[in-house]
Amino acid sequence: MAAYHAKLSAFGSSVPKKIVNNFDLEKIVDTSDEWIRTRTGIRQRHIASPGEFTSHIGLKAAQAAIQHAGIDAQSIDLIVLATSTPDNTFPASAVAIQAGLGIHHGAAFDVQAVCSGFIFALSTADSFLRTGAFKRALVIGAELFSRLLDWEDRTTAVLFGDGCAAVVLQATDRDEGIVADKLGCYADARGILRVRGYGTTYGNRGVSFGDTLWDFDGQEIFKRAVHGMSESSAHVLAKAGVTADAVDLVVPHQANLRIIEFVAKRAGIPMERVFVTVHKYGNMSAATVPVALVDAIEEGRVTPGALILTPAFGAGLTWCSHLIRFGERVTPLATTDVELPPCGKTALEMVNAFRAIKDSRGRSAAGLAGPVFPESGARASG
Ligand code: UT7
Repeated sequence: MAAYHAKLSAFGSSVPKKIVNNFDLEKIVDTSDEWIRTRTGIRQRHIASPGEFTSHIGLKAAQAAIQHAGIDAQSIDLIVLATSTPDNTFPASAVAIQAGLGIHHGAAFDVQAVCSGFIFALSTADSFLRTGAFKRALVIGAELFSRLLDWEDRTTAVLFGDGCAAVVLQATDRDEGIVADKLGCYADARGILRVRGYGTTYGNRGVSFGDTLWDFDGQEIFKRAVHGMSESSAHVLAKAGVTADAVDLVVPHQANLRIIEFVAKRAGIPMERVFVTVHKYGNMSAATVPVALVDAIEEGRVTPGALILTPAFGAGLTWCSHLIRFGERVTPLATTDVELPPCGKTALEMVNAFRAIKDSRGRSAAGLAGPVFPESGARASG
């Protein structure tokens, strides 16, 4: 029989420990702590060591969530990983996580909706659980943007960080879990946020730590982010038949504190009921919302029965929101001893190592220009 709801029963995060602060970035690009803080709210971001892959941090977060849930990993029959920085084009990084957990049954695949990815992945898993196709899912948001950044581009290098978190999603007949969702896309504006250098447009150019070139119209992205996050928030509230007063906590995507403040104001929710992490992590893309949820739970900001709103926005341009009802238990059922392996280097040393790898090949924008999008450009002849 199909389940009525899918509840979020346990969480785990694995954020790399090494931190690059704004003063570190002043040594790399023409920027300042003051500019980054006042324009974005970001003070620092976490960076994974060079030997780390998306599936590694994904596996750690998955193990922590499983331990917190007090369940056997073998009871997981679905893994959905949200990432735009997978280990490989294929196989999906979710598959490496399934193998790492020693699971030999069920499905595992990636969802790519960039910063909206976790919310899209949660809706995907939720739909499967409701039909009865699967019973227990792991939904993970994992990103290593440090690999994708052009560290010489101050416009984008200061905005992003690495991180990961996972949630155990459990079929239930109780009135909790995902109450309403709304997912959308402004495909017409997809050209204002794009990273060039990865993907089939660039053929076999994709070497590890290859050059990237970012298309990034910050102000237009900002406007669309406020619009998409606000529209989807209004939609889920209306769908659930509740007003903004019923929302106990907003856990939004965190790209810019000013975006978050605009979205909260439009929703009529005071900032005291908004959970902010952008100062600690920057924008971790698909990992942002789940890491913030873990932090909010750990800080006691999610109370039993709480109603949580999670508006998000990302390249695509994707936008979305969830309304999530927590159950009576918000704390973990067991403790976790999962840790990322130690790394001897400082975060700034790691960033400089990434830059040196690129420099050693001779930086080049060759092959990164071309048509705005492959489908809108002329086909190669012959
Ligand atoms: O998750 C979804 C992805 N991203 C987003 O949602 C980001 C949305 N956009 C934003 O957050 C903001 O637009 C930014 C933080 C990216 C930029 O803030 P802004 O207030 O829109 O600044 P701006 O782009 O209008 O640039 C203002 C000035 C420019 O100089 P001039 O032309 O006024 O002399 C930039 O060149 O700031 C300069 N600038 C910088 N200065 C110091 C741009 N980046 C930097 C920097 N440090 N890192």
